Amino acid sequence: MTKRMTVLLLGSGGREHALAWKMAQSPLVEKIHVLPGNPGMPTKDGRIVCIEGEIDAAARELKPDLTVIGPEKPMAEGVTDRLEAAGFTVLGASKDAARLESSKIFSKEFMGEEGIPTARAVRCDGYAAAVAALATWDVEGKGVVIKADGLAAGKGVIVTSNRAEAGQALHDFMVDGAHPVKAERVLLEETLHGREVSAFALCDGERFIPFGYICDHKRAFDGDKGPTTGGMGAFSSKDWPSEAARAFINEHIFAATLRGMQKRGAPFKGVLFAGLMIDGDDVKVIEFNVRLGDPEAQALLPLIESDIVPPFLAAARGDLSACAAPKIAGETAVHVVMASAGYPSPDMKLGEKIALAPVMNDTAQVFFAGVKDKDGALVSSGGRVLGVTARGATLAAARQQAYALLENISFSGAHWRRDIGRQ
Ligand code: AMP
Ligand code: GLY
Repeated sequence: MTKRMTVLLLGSGGREHALAWKMAQSPLVEKIHVLPGNPGMPTKDGRIVCIEGEIDAAARELKPDLTVIGPEKPMAEGVTDRLEAAGFTVLGASKDAARLESSKIFSKEFMGEEGIPTARAVRCDGYAAAVAALATWDVEGKGVVIKADGLAAGKGVIVTSNRAEAGQALHDFMVDGAHPVKAERVLLEETLHGREVSAFALCDGERFIPFGYICDHKRAFDGDKGPTTGGMGAFSSKDWPSEAARAFINEHIFAATLRGMQKRGAPFKGVLFAGLMIDGDDVKVIEFNVRLGDPEAQALLPLIESDIVPPFLAAARGDLSACAAPKIAGETAVHVVMASAGYPSPDMKLGEKIALAPVMNDTAQVFFAGVKDKDGALVSSGGRVLGVTARGATLAAARQQAYALLENISFSGAHWRRDIGRQ
């Protein structure tokens, strides 16, 4: 029998828990080492373990057959390039390719040059230019979207039709040294209308296989009210986007992006995530990300029935030509996030003990995110603490399962949306 694989996975959130859980089902895999992971991830059989330290040293020590990078930041910092230069097989974007996410301006100009449909935008270099552009913008009539250039962990985008708020955002991003988002350049962008979806493609630099479509809920409270969060839940829909929209996305967004990045000497390898706005037949890119979404991954991966390790390995090695698209269940999935009191404000109540009566079955799964170990018990340590995914024949059935499962989990101050997957 051939030796089974050692996998190194970088990241610590719910997305990485879902990735570890899914890869651990592969008969090709011996063990998954998650760096740093979280204490909700390890399995009793030892197939998933968490490790500490720094990625380069961990790779040298473990000699993984495959390294998977979950979050965007290490990719933007060049971790993929470093590990590949040291001879490792990595599923993740290079630093240059990660600019699709790490620079909103690169990404916007790239789409313009490649004819990839997106919202019209004006690039402003410096605060004075941005203020001048805003002064002539029809904010009250058409609204405006302000985007800080650079990685901002989801906090660098303001959508508004209020001029004062738009002006404040420019000041916050470009002048206020104490604000968490700092940008020298911004985009002012037209507001798109329609329905949002996250579309994924697994890419080898040249080819891709479509990897699924998931909708997420970004606002904190029911009815899409309240502040924007990293994502309070996600769901799949069997028949949306339409076949025609999917074909358009493949040809005019994914294939066009791969060609354009190859042309620039920065072939895209890894998971390409197109955040899309769909309005009737009109599909436009809101943004690109260079990774699976969180919490989209937690809804998507449990729906994949085939082994994802062969396509991950093939993409990382740069040749997907022998891989088919993953087999996706003919069911739907709903993922509901439980968040800490106060989230998404910085003023959160953490350190709460999590009570869990495990009644898992093969259609439901808990994925942990912001948790740590305290005296042998799991306590909350971040905004998004955990999430529950359930599958069902219909969205209603999946919702019902997910919310029933959630009844078995509690921690003080926990809040979650009651309307995930209700369209
Ligand atoms: P981003 O970080 O670019 O994904 O933006 C965060 C969220 O802001 C998106 O998921 C959209 O809901 C919203 N958004 C960004 N750009 C636009 C746009 N041009 N029109 C409407 N909504 C937008
Ligand atoms: N859920 C959106 C993201 O991962 O950026």
